[in-house]
Amino acid sequence: MKTLKLNTSEDAIKKASDLIKAGKIVAFPTETVYGLGANAFDQKACKAIYKAKGRPNDNPMIVHISDQSQLEEVASDIPDTAIKLFDAFAPGPLSIILKRSDKISDVITAGLDTVAVRIPSCEITQNLLKQAGVPIAAPSANSSGKPSGTNPEDVLEDLDGKIDAIIMGELCEIGIESTVLDLSEDAPVILRPGAITKEMLEKVLEREIKYQDDEISSKNSGPAPKSPGLKYKHYSPNAEVIVLRGSDEAIQNRFLGLGLEAKKDNKKIGILNYDNTDKAAQKLFQDLREMDRQGYDLILIKALDETGLGYSVMNRILRSAGYKIEEVK
Ligand code: TXA
Ligand code: MG
Repeated sequence: MKTLKLNTSEDAIKKASDLIKAGKIVAFPTETVYGLGANAFDQKACKAIYKAKGRPNDNPMIVHISDQSQLEEVASDIPDTAIKLFDAFAPGPLSIILKRSDKISDVITAGLDTVAVRIPSCEITQNLLKQAGVPIAAPSANSSGKPSGTNPEDVLEDLDGKIDAIIMGELCEIGIESTVLDLSEDAPVILRPGAITKEMLEKVLEREIKYQDDEISSKNSGPAPKSPGLKYKHYSPNAEVIVLRGSDEAIQNRFLGLGLEAKKDNKKIGILNYDNTDKAAQKLFQDLREMDRQGYDLILIKALDETGLGYSVMNRILRSAGYKIEEVK
């Protein structure tokens, strides 16, 4: 298959929406990461997404809509809390798990009776959704298990020749995937942390919200994870990744020490030392992929402060490291 490379002009976005309406699968930018989309009401097209990504078919996809007027097409029994949160944070990087509508197939939900719904804010995504006129089912645009694609080159590295088209936008503004919040049961639970933080959600709902303990589920002990995607290997570069936590000075010393050791073993060692949480979020996946391309054997990442967005970025960093973290003194 030849993958059509589209630019971000009105005409090109119109072309992308025509392809989606015709049952094709198209990668496109959003404010979080690139998505690989299909008409959510076209089961055959949705199936093609799993194939292109090599994604296990028990991992459900997020359904994207342009605004709240499309909510009832995709979800049912919508609680007031969902409306409150969409009023506060949509369009934006928040996906809410709701009871699904009759129109949403098992292909999207992997047989669950719920559906994840997101209203993206990126102008290109909005334009695409409006032109297509249908909800778009889209997981992140990457091979299953790899870091999500945040720029067209990284998406094409995994999916060129496997998808019908891509809208070649810029580096995504946020860089990590949306917050996934489960509102399908009585107590709201954060299944995946993102740029809409626990504190922000709690402020609007005026109640405490829990995180699902994904560290347990990622090790596949404990109960089956509520978000099926969380049990799979994630964000894994080919290099070994180690997270270092401690004072700046201790970390610099450890970087030096490990650097010398690596040199002796003829290993290529790289360091990710972000001084700003927004930049860390935006660049993490791109940097991990670039370091893989350059053949690094070991990547050291300085731990971030786990407050606000930092918590969500650390979630991705720890997963990419397989939870290998070293406290340095
Ligand atoms: O920012 C994002 O969310 C991006 C952009 C493209 O919108 N999409 C994205 O999709 O990250 P994906 O498929 O890579 O991650 C969706 C996550 C997975 O962990 C999946 O298991 C979970 O959401 N999920 C989807 N539907 C669900 C459901 N009905 N119940 C529980 N978890 C669900
Ligand atoms: Mg993904």
